Amino acid sequence: MSQKTIIAPSVLSADFSRLGEEVEAVCAAGADWIHLDVMDGHFVPNITFGPPIIKSIRNRTDKVFDCHLMIEPAERYLEAFAVVGCNIITVHAEATTHLDRSLQAIRDLGCKAGLSLNPSTPESVIEYVLDRLDLILLMTVNPGFGGQAFIPSVVEKVRRVKSMIGSRPIHLEIDGGVTPETAPLVAAAGADVLVAGSAVFKGRREAYAGNIHALRTAAEDQCAPGRTAL
Ligand code: DX5
Ligand code: ZN
Repeated sequence: MSQKTIIAPSVLSADFSRLGEEVEAVCAAGADWIHLDVMDGHFVPNITFGPPIIKSIRNRTDKVFDCHLMIEPAERYLEAFAVVGCNIITVHAEATTHLDRSLQAIRDLGCKAGLSLNPSTPESVIEYVLDRLDLILLMTVNPGFGGQAFIPSVVEKVRRVKSMIGSRPIHLEIDGGVTPETAPLVAAAGADVLVAGSAVFKGRREAYAGNIHALRTAAEDQCAPGRTAL
């Protein structure tokens, strides 16, 4: 892993009627990963898509598929998401009873294991599973919808979680309300992966490269001096 900020556009804000083309367009525009927001209408108040849709776009790019499961329970579906080509599978602490077991199961499926926390969830839930993690996703909105306002109180949590990670090779990802204005706040606090839906997919496709560049430069200008290499 390097010091480069990873930009992970969320296809939640893409044109779903042309999802394959949208994935190709953001990849051509400089996306590092593709973020896939899976919602069940139960853990979160919205429903999006599942394994068949992910399978249908898997051949559009070789980029990392970063799958954010907002489903409860997640355990019984982990294999289905691994089989269709998700590289990182992230479960929510609030939606997972046997967290340690689920994280082990994700790695056993050959995927990287991620853990996500809602804005109000204390970071102490991470403590005893730290060595099972490849990624920690801190929500900076309440999950369920794109286009919500960034919750600034999470910035302090980003700083604390970065310190818990220490020298472990764990990505620290931020999701929700990420814009060129908020990206520097979380980058300075230690985040190295930024998810963005609205801020990437706004405007026509010709705008995507500029949108991604604006996020990347806003984050990297801020974090370059202080952030440690992961
Ligand atoms: C929210 C999702 C986010 C969301 C981000 O539940 O996990 O990935 O799509 O959207 P923006 O960038 O529009 O806040
Ligand atoms: Zn997400």
